[in-house]
Amino acid sequence: MRLIAANWKMNKTVKETEDYINRFLQTFKPADDREVLICPPFTSLYVASRMLSNSPVKLGAQNCYYEKAGAFTGEVSLPMLKELGCSYVIVGHSERRHIFGESDELINKKVSACLEEGVRPILCVGEKLEDREAGMTFKVVETQVRLALSGLEDYVDQIDIAYEPVWAIGTGVPATPEDAVSVHRFIRDLLKDLNPRSEGKTRILYGGSVKPSNAREFMKHPEIGGLLVGSASLDPDSFAKIVESF
Ligand code: 13P
Repeated sequence: MRLIAANWKMNKTVKETEDYINRFLQTFKPADDREVLICPPFTSLYVASRMLSNSPVKLGAQNCYYEKAGAFTGEVSLPMLKELGCSYVIVGHSERRHIFGESDELINKKVSACLEEGVRPILCVGEKLEDREAGMTFKVVETQVRLALSGLEDYVDQIDIAYEPVWAIGTGVPATPEDAVSVHRFIRDLLKDLNPRSEGKTRILYGGSVKPSNAREFMKHPEIGGLLVGSASLDPDSFAKIVESF
């Protein structure tokens, strides 16, 4: 089943979350062949969890810490997220990597903690513009995937991956569907190499300037297992259109 996910990033207060979800639940039409996920900021998870509990829309977090509890000021643990009904966590988003300096080693610990707690991680990978221009796209993506999954190869079937080229995030300039498909195929082959038994069980999503007007072009390709949407998910009607675009 394909996954269409909204990453709100640092947007929406509790009141704005209520308004959004009320509107989204009125507009969107559930369908058996796709999973829909909303990842609000931490402060909105409680209200979102209550509002979505009787709907098919899943709830996820945008980040987590790998320890269960303790003296980690400002962090949020997986048991806390599970109690709120989060079934997914976005891990290693490019903004976490490049603004907050998250290393591959930290991301690996977070993926490991998610697997231990039974919360499905959406591992984000993607190259910067300078990597693409230097012909390093595949090498960068391969390194990110290998390091994030180091020691976790047996569990590759329990994660999803989002390919989000950094130069396509928030720029209005998406990758071409053909470029996305070639990286998706590369990741698929890499996963097969890491664990031949996992074949086909990890969804590979595309993210980066997805909008209602281009979502269908990506979803035409069977290699693209779903979408991770930033700005265009902030409006409930626009996100509902993306969900229904294929
Ligand atoms: P935009 O859709 O705003 O480009 O953001 C993509 C993204 O980072 C989703 O995680």
